[in-house]
Amino acid sequence: MRCGILTLSDKGARGEREDLSGKYLIEFAKAQGWEVEIYKILPDNEEEIAKTLLNWCEDLKLDLILTTGGTGVHPRDVTPEATKRVIEKEIPGLAEFIRYISYSKTPMASLSRGLAGIRGKTLIINLPGSPKALQEIMPFIKEVIEHAVSKIKGDPSECARN
Ligand code: MTE
Repeated sequence: MRCGILTLSDKGARGEREDLSGKYLIEFAKAQGWEVEIYKILPDNEEEIAKTLLNWCEDLKLDLILTTGGTGVHPRDVTPEATKRVIEKEIPGLAEFIRYISYSKTPMASLSRGLAGIRGKTLIINLPGSPKALQEIMPFIKEVIEHAVSKIKGDPSECARN
């Protein structure tokens, strides 16, 4: 699986904060045997985020893009808006599941507006910005990600599982 990690953070992009979230996602992906083809930190700028997501889908043709940050309710948080511009099919259940598993950790999970969806054959998932949140979420969604990516690529096998 070829993936891209995109961190959205004004402070991170200015070099004022170490990107522990991006680092966590890179290490997590590698531990699953996923290939991290590209990693970038961008400021919370809707235009720039949408342009990068589009490029990673259309030109790099990645299987998976994980974004971290910018999903909340601060005026600068625009990751879901940028993602909405790029995806062709939304997967509401995946975004709901991410919030569902987070509610046992913090009610603040309800403030994450993250989306999940597909552009071409690329799965895009918005994740919250804190490394703690990623540690709480990623182990629970890795199987869903792998199944989704194989289905998006056209795997014809039956989905039924016991
Ligand atoms: N989800 C989990 N699992 N754990 C967390 O600590 N933090 C929440 C939420 N989701 C959190 C979480 C908080 S405090 C916010 S404000 C929102 O994610 C949005 O975060 P973001 O703007 O960094 O994307």
